[in-house]
Amino acid sequence: MFLTLAACDRGGETYPQTTFRPVSEFGAKLNAVFYNTFWWTIAIMILVIVLVVYAAFRFREQPAAPPPRQIHGNTKLELTWTLVPALIVVIISVPTIRTIFETQRRPPADALVVEVIGHQWWWEFRYPQYQLTTANLMYIPTGRTISLVMQSADVIHSFWIPKIGGKRDVNPLPRRREGGAPAHPNYITFVANRPGHYLGQCAEFCGEAHALMRMSSMAVTPTEFDAWVQRMRGAQGGAQPQPAPSAQAVIGQMPAPTGAGNPYRTVMSDSLMQAEGRRIFLGGACVACHAIAGTTARGTIGPNLTLFGSRPQLGAGTLANTRDNLIRWIKDPAAVKPGALMPGTLRGTAGVGPTSLTDAEVRAVAAYLLSLK
Ligand code: CUA
Repeated sequence: MFLTLAACDRGGETYPQTTFRPVSEFGAKLNAVFYNTFWWTIAIMILVIVLVVYAAFRFREQPAAPPPRQIHGNTKLELTWTLVPALIVVIISVPTIRTIFETQRRPPADALVVEVIGHQWWWEFRYPQYQLTTANLMYIPTGRTISLVMQSADVIHSFWIPKIGGKRDVNPLPRRREGGAPAHPNYITFVANRPGHYLGQCAEFCGEAHALMRMSSMAVTPTEFDAWVQRMRGAQGGAQPQPAPSAQAVIGQMPAPTGAGNPYRTVMSDSLMQAEGRRIFLGGACVACHAIAGTTARGTIGPNLTLFGSRPQLGAGTLANTRDNLIRWIKDPAAVKPGALMPGTLRGTAGVGPTSLTDAEVRAVAAYLLSLK
């Protein structure tokens, strides 16, 4: 599905993070402000260059030529070069301020609210109207107003998906006190008008893995969005534990030992491997931080992993979501993303010990996570 969506967006193939091909009316409005300012500054630049070149040539030093006529206190000229720039400032500022107010309007009642929470170094997306939570990949329907309500769990980050528009800081909010002033999150309100997969990243330096704090938005048709919501809600955590196959069935599939690798690895069926991974995941340290809808995993410190297998990337856009990359990630996240808070199999992170999973267990957990679609 990602490939077909990407194919719809030919500009996106070459410049996935351009602001010049906005896919929302919000981005288009920002572009209009940009171009208005841009063309005025270009015109001024050309005018200044022409006058400088003309003056340098016309009044160059020549042998025997008298000094040029000196002018002081030309009221007409001084008024002109004061009023014309003032007029240009007005021409630029009026549409700019109008756009600021337009894009800060209250969203309509039927808007889809997405709570955006920046974490070191990943993004959490909550859908309070659907009681869903996901991470790093924000699903949105086209044609419906999206209201992003944005804050941070730790330091200042900046949410920026260039094709949608914006680049807005997400700030840590003081906890709302009883009777105190309400906290003020930041907002972006927009309508995506084209399906596609739009890439973005954190745009405010926020620590050592800032450059690896990416996010993306999957804009789909309203029907596809409803289907995604249903899948998120109905997610039962992927493969269910299954009865082990009979010994005869397993022996029948055993390859002749080749001496390379573990022959049993190929013997274990996918579903068996996934069930084993599920058991390890739900019974181990993973659930302290991660949640998967429909399971007992309810951790909220790390990214929610519901439908993880359908995400194109892992580690907040750090790697393509393939089996090998996932295994690499589970074994040693900090080697992939410096400062990652998730512990590896052999080394822990500040305050968290290593998971001590064996290679076979890591493979099983990876198989389980990739089966969550
Ligand atoms: Cu988060 Cu930079």
